Amino acid sequence: MIRERTQIAIIGAGPAGLLLAQLLRIAGIETIVLERQSRGYVEARIRAGVLEQGTVELIDEAGVGARMGREGLPHDGFDLAYDGVRHRIDLAHLTGGKRVMVYGQTELTKDLGDAAAEAGAPAIYDAADVSIHDADGDAPVVRYRRKDEDAEISCDFIAACDGFHGIGRRSIPESALKTFERIYPFGWLGILADVPPCSHELIYARHERGFALASMRSLTRSRYYLQCPIDERLENWPDARIWEELKVRLGPEAASAMTIGPAIEKSVAPLRSFVAEPMRWGRLFLAGDAAHIVPPTGAKGLNLAASDVRALSRAFIAFYKSGQSALIDNYSQTCLARVWKAVRFSWWMTQLMHKFGEGETFDARVQGAELSYLFGSRAASQALAENYVGLPFDGPT
Ligand code: APR
Ligand code: PHB
Repeated sequence: MIRERTQIAIIGAGPAGLLLAQLLRIAGIETIVLERQSRGYVEARIRAGVLEQGTVELIDEAGVGARMGREGLPHDGFDLAYDGVRHRIDLAHLTGGKRVMVYGQTELTKDLGDAAAEAGAPAIYDAADVSIHDADGDAPVVRYRRKDEDAEISCDFIAACDGFHGIGRRSIPESALKTFERIYPFGWLGILADVPPCSHELIYARHERGFALASMRSLTRSRYYLQCPIDERLENWPDARIWEELKVRLGPEAASAMTIGPAIEKSVAPLRSFVAEPMRWGRLFLAGDAAHIVPPTGAKGLNLAASDVRALSRAFIAFYKSGQSALIDNYSQTCLARVWKAVRFSWWMTQLMHKFGEGETFDARVQGAELSYLFGSRAASQALAENYVGLPFDGPT
């Protein structure tokens, strides 16, 4: 049995776990990060790509923003398309100059992994059978297996940044946890292709055939999504059919500007809203997807993970540097206040932009009315814009 000691044991080397480790490391706080997959596996995942301004600032604060600053694409707005007609949401104008940054989560995870390696503190990858013990006591322990050897980490606190399917939330007694969930009756079919984007900004399209999103990873790599049945099979969607459907749903202007090419990645993902309360149990803290899931419509998943990590890193730093535990004690309440606002916004945008049922339904009429109102009202557009760029952080600056 390998016995190790650290201040914060972090489970999960996705963006939440690695960003938390980085922020704590530069504050002089010891961490050990355990990841069940290989680094290559983690970095091969295709995930979101829109960063709120607050997330960008946190990445810069963590000292890992250099490549993002060089390669990221600042966006001042995006388009909403309704049955082929496009309307621009001018984020900068509507929010007094705020914008978002298009930069793939994969790239951020690589930057964080590189920083950890350069600091001589890489995550422990391929860590199997991670388990949490005595999190409700004063001396929590995390156990795992690696290369057929058992290991045990004694620590002060445990941060479960291990995603929706992780061990962290499941280590909290059901009696101590309340969960809230909504599963949407459709999924997103996503493709990645090394072709220039069809527009310089994102296009969220509501169409009678279903939702579509035109996004990007760079000026030469596009990311597109199509609403599809929840149990859709990839074999039903050869590339040619995907491109044709995107052209219909995104409208004639996008269709004429669209460059098509082979999909280098293709996947179907379900959509759900999920929140677990509280986000703390004793000395165990949940952050990121471990605590909440949002439908990707509002581009909030990664940004909420960063928001939790911002609060948790500040709480641990206050504890070790000034003996204060107020931020630790308020962590769950502080995070959940912002989580629920982002969950609401993601739910609202999903309800607004997706097809629910067939034909001329009540929902379809209400969606059309809301989009028409949105396009004609500065107040309504401003509400959308300020949620999209990210609401102010709660708690300490
Ligand atoms: N032991 C160790 N590691 C684990 C375990 C476990 N039992 N279970 C899960 N993990 C790892 C996963 O392999 C993954 O690398 O935890 C990591 C969790 O990363 P994410 O799922 O990316 O979650 P998070 O870091 O909170 O980032 C949220 O990622 O999935 C997207 O849409 C989501 O953009 C959002 C972001
Ligand atoms: C993406 O580029 O993957 C993306 C962008 C915006 C979203 C969802 C996904 O709302």
